[in-house]
Amino acid sequence: MNIVASPIAQSRLPPPVALAPSARTPRRCALAVGVIGPGRVGSALLEQLRAAQPRLERSMNLVLNLCGVVASRQMWLDCDDPELNARHHRAQTWRPNDLGEFAAHVRGDDGRHALLIDCSASDEVAAHYPDWLAAGIHVITPNKLAGSGPLERWHAIRAASVDSGARFRCEATVCAGLPVVQTLRDLLDTGDELIDIEGMFSGTMAWLCNRYDGSRPFSALLREAQALGYTEPDPRADLSGIDVARKLVILAREAGLPLSLEDVDVESLVPPALAGLPLGECTRRLHELDAPMSAKLAKAQVHSGVLRHVGRLDREGRASVRLAALPAAHAFAHARLADNVVQFRTRRYRDNPLMVQGPGAGPEVTAAGVFADLLRIAESLAVRP
Ligand SMILES: NC(=O)c1ccc[n+]([C@@H]2O[C@H](COP(=O)([O-])OP(=O)(O)OC[C@H]3O[C@@H](n4cnc5c(N)ncnc54)[C@H](OP(=O)(O)O)[C@@H]3O)[C@@H](O)[C@H]2O)c1
Repeated sequence: MNIVASPIAQSRLPPPVALAPSARTPRRCALAVGVIGPGRVGSALLEQLRAAQPRLERSMNLVLNLCGVVASRQMWLDCDDPELNARHHRAQTWRPNDLGEFAAHVRGDDGRHALLIDCSASDEVAAHYPDWLAAGIHVITPNKLAGSGPLERWHAIRAASVDSGARFRCEATVCAGLPVVQTLRDLLDTGDELIDIEGMFSGTMAWLCNRYDGSRPFSALLREAQALGYTEPDPRADLSGIDVARKLVILAREAGLPLSLEDVDVESLVPPALAGLPLGECTRRLHELDAPMSAKLAKAQVHSGVLRHVGRLDREGRASVRLAALPAAHAFAHARLADNVVQFRTRRYRDNPLMVQGPGAGPEVTAAGVFADLLRIAESLAVRP
């Protein structure tokens, strides 16, 4: 990960003030934590939390109490008796999934600080956020469906958070562990003004564009990316541009722009003839991508340019996702194979934009983005009991 020019680092701080000894020991803070979705990201997070616990207790006086884990059909609560949680052939017996019961258990009735971490990709789970926040439960998620879902629900999430003081954080929804949402927040909270955000928000598309020089058909590269596990199970999810559009909507809303998914001008790279096909049939006909992609590449190469998959949002709320022909000297032409790159142009960073760059997918880095959100909430609780 590489952050070029952080706004915090560039700010002029007053000379350091000596801290009173008592201020050196952070106030003890205990957080009751419930994890929803122990899949790739959720499992990596559980492992990171377990490994970090002794260090967090030592350095931050922070204790994380894992109170439950819930998957799509079943859940484990720490209150369950050993008999229910007995191991059968190395598998635990869990109770059936019940999100209401799960949230109530993590929240408790003793005024504790409670936090739910949604590592699912479920809209059903996202629909609970307003109620959980209203009940004073903090919510963190890498799930894009709340931040880019119905605007009404987004407003309900914000309103519940403001009313109850519970925090909602979603750093990992945009470029996984890269600090993109927080960088935008820091810029705006310190009084900067957004001009635009432009970036390569899809690692899969970045990899494909980087490798596509015309020496091999686009479909052959796409099959290679599939074999390497870089694409979604259905590669049309990457080629359609919708996932990037969701990230733009999340950033727009963070910037106070009431954008919805329908407002984003998305250039899908899926030919209409492939759009409605069952996955198997589509996979057999991937070669139909080759002619249109070859024409786009030829057009870019006329001016010695390169193709890059670019998402753009400006301060008026105009947002687009497209395959752009960029000059070979453009910063996006030199990113590493599957890197995400996000470029912020603001009043302060007008001529030389602030850039965040690095791997924008993968369970470990995504879980680390979620973990960083958790630490931000814990820090705020340590000063506000
Ligand atoms: N993987 C990445 O690199 C990456 C990067 C950025 C963001 N994200 C986001 O992170 C989230 C998790 O991704 P992932 O790759 O870890 O997905 P995953 O491996 O498919 O795991 C999803 C988990 O969610 C659980 N789940 C589904 N519906 C649920 C429900 N109604 N209630 C409770 N749990 C439910 C699933 O339970 P079962 O095990 O029972 O099916 C599974 O444990 C997604 O929103 C994804 O978009 C992922």
